[in-house]
Amino acid sequence: FPPNLQMVDGSALRRADCRAKGGAPGFKVAILGAAGGIGQPLAMLMKMNPLVSVLHLYDVVNAPGVTADISHMDTGAVVRGFLGQPQLESALAGIDLVIIPAGVPRKPGMTRDDLFNINAGIVRTLCEGIAKACPKAIVNLISNPVNSTVPIAAEVFKKAGTYDPKRLLGVTMLDVVRANTFIAEVLGLDPREVDVPVVGGHAGVTILPLLSQVKPPCSFSKEETEYLTNRIQNGGTEVVEAKAGAGSATLSMAYAAVKFADACLRGLRGDAGVVECAFVASEVTELPFFATKVRLGRNGADEIYQLGPLNEYERIGLEKAKRELAASIQKGVSFIKK
Ligand code: NAD
Ligand code: LMR
Repeated sequence: FPPNLQMVDGSALRRADCRAKGGAPGFKVAILGAAGGIGQPLAMLMKMNPLVSVLHLYDVVNAPGVTADISHMDTGAVVRGFLGQPQLESALAGIDLVIIPAGVPRKPGMTRDDLFNINAGIVRTLCEGIAKACPKAIVNLISNPVNSTVPIAAEVFKKAGTYDPKRLLGVTMLDVVRANTFIAEVLGLDPREVDVPVVGGHAGVTILPLLSQVKPPCSFSKEETEYLTNRIQNGGTEVVEAKAGAGSATLSMAYAAVKFADACLRGLRGDAGVVECAFVASEVTELPFFATKVRLGRNGADEIYQLGPLNEYERIGLEKAKRELAASIQKGVSFIKK
């Protein structure tokens, strides 16, 4: 460890050991890409999560500074920092949940697929580390393009002989968070009262909000449906353009990532009825991966729900989504198989 990490690390380890011996509840979580725009607020929010007993922060830059900073928060989780590839496996040893926001973000004018060339290799390397050091961990994959990086991760785990489809989840929670917010705005409701399933994938037309299944039940005019669907599908681009070259959504994403990670941890703990949307291996459509509601349990995505009844607008949207998704999934698979 670099010196400033050792200081944090000594007392952290002792506290972690005491807790483990005392049988205190809590999970060990690692964030890969913890010094980034998403990684930093995500690390802060996970340090505040009472279900987390140990928090490992890994990045190829600035991990010591972020770790020292976060470790001063007087919450229960013990924080340890890891810098650079030689420390990847130590960062992952014994971890229950790995959250991956590592990789480059979009700039205006780019699609998420334009990130493939850089992020595919980053995700492959990190997943090779997971296969070696914590093959049973639940993986929450945030790095874009999610529609391709999840298939990449699956292929890496298959190659290593560690693939468990239930444990690999592409994070599409931000689409749900946005949908809840934008729909609440139109309905004049508190967003916390709104629940919208968003299915398909995480890019453009593959993001398919099912407005016919909004809770509380409500109906929308054709104009409202088109406005809301477009806004939800382009929510990421709205932020990329507003940030004007300084990156993409980080704060709302950290919030969404923690909401999803917390659901995964509650599932791991054995809580009943934990249901969220995620991009997972699936038989709901003819595609090998698809985002739907899933029940999170002790093994990850323990149950995958069907789409439910769709209206005509959604059926057309589904066909468009599937066409684009098929190509993105294939691109991810070929990256590892070639
Ligand atoms: P960022 O550039 O601010 O941070 C990325 C971090 O990853 C940096 O700290 C960088 O050092 C680190 N990193 C790079 N290579 C690494 C490696 N090999 N190992 C470990 N860490 C590495 O970017 P950001 O704004 O935090 O976005 C990160 C990713 O998340 C992007 O790909 C972005 O498109 C994606 N994203 C996804 C969603 C979603 O809904 N799934 C939402 C927002 C952003
Ligand atoms: C988002 O939806 O905000 C992310 O996927 C980042 C992006 O590039 O839009």
